[in-house]
Amino acid sequence: MPTPSSLADSFGRSIRDLRISITDRCNFRCLYCLPETEEAANFYRGRFNPDKAKPINYSWKPRDHFLTYEEIERLVRILARLGVNKIRLTGGEPLLRRNVSNLVSRLAGVPGIDDIALTTNGFLFPDQAAGLHQAGLRRVTFSIDSLDPANFKKITGRDGLHLVKESIRVAKDLGFAPIKLNAVVIRHLNDHELVELARFAQIEKVAMRFIEFMPLDSSRAWQRDHVVGKAEILERVGSAMRLSPIRDENESTTAQRWMIEDGPAEIGVIAPVTEPFCGHCNRIRLTADGQIRTCLFSLGEHDIKESLRGGADDQAVIARLQAIIAQKEERHHIGEADFAQPDRTMSYIGG
Ligand code: GTP
Ligand code: 5AD
Ligand code: SF4
Repeated sequence: MPTPSSLADSFGRSIRDLRISITDRCNFRCLYCLPETEEAANFYRGRFNPDKAKPINYSWKPRDHFLTYEEIERLVRILARLGVNKIRLTGGEPLLRRNVSNLVSRLAGVPGIDDIALTTNGFLFPDQAAGLHQAGLRRVTFSIDSLDPANFKKITGRDGLHLVKESIRVAKDLGFAPIKLNAVVIRHLNDHELVELARFAQIEKVAMRFIEFMPLDSSRAWQRDHVVGKAEILERVGSAMRLSPIRDENESTTAQRWMIEDGPAEIGVIAPVTEPFCGHCNRIRLTADGQIRTCLFSLGEHDIKESLRGGADDQAVIARLQAIIAQKEERHHIGEADFAQPDRTMSYIGG
């Protein structure tokens, strides 16, 4: 039986939630993540401090750098014995990796894992959805930053709004629940769509979550001015529809939630910039190339692939994991003078 302290960090937080990036590749070029499109360059031009805007030179990792599904399953089995019960598969775009259903069914069979979710841009979801559901996936989150096809293309670099909408329909038909939608809100880019996005959630009866833009973009163009904070998001959405707060028993959730009174549908606001939730963070992240990140904003990573490939037995892996988790950072430092942006961006770390 897991004890509450089997995976405790030095601030007394118990790790329950593992977010696994299964590939660093992505078929989108979201300008808040991998902004290398012409549109992104135009949007950021003149809007950021050129001293800080040093593009990160990223390169895709060769495939054998990735952990295999067997290796991921072994690690999850070990972590589940220590108290992890929740998994989210992310990327890059996770559905670019082959046969994700196989990984889902492996993880669904791990004792102690009772929740497996996927974050995807929805481009490849319709073709894979039935197999994923059959394998045991029940929860899915789609990124949808705009409802205007031209703006969607500007933000993501891809003409794919219709495919995300199709994905939502397919997910509903198959019975995925809850279905969450993520929109990163950026001033002058999509903040004029806040109310429309909330209305979309109302019509579709899904959960729309507005996320404050974090400094995790590859061109390091983030500026505080780009962030539309929780208070403003609520004010703007709340002026168009009646919202009532939802109380969450699970204090480790990232989103603060409201019911749209004429729903049934909800909106959530994820406010890591204006209202950090680090105090009850129960997450660690595993990158596709086998590094553990103890915080989204970690400046260093911890190699676990070496232990898995080097013949370490389970006890040795446990000792390594406990030593890693003991080093989990207390909190992020966004907006403070000592803030340093991690080298790897969201496309490597996973959302
Ligand atoms: P589940 O609880 O697994 O459903 O996930 P979630 O509700 O936290 O949502 P999701 O995994 O879709 O995350 C939504 C967004 O919240 C991410 O894309 C990030 O932008 C942000 N986020 C998630 N986890 C963290 C975290 O640990 N720290 C910070 N600062 N932001 C996070
Ligand atoms: N700030 C906030 N959220 C981000 N995401 C990606 N980059 C950022 C960022 N800079 C989130 C988006 C996407 C998920 C994969 O990660 O919500 O849906
Ligand atoms: Fe946890 Fe780091 Fe996110 Fe804070 S910024 S909630 S410590 S992962």
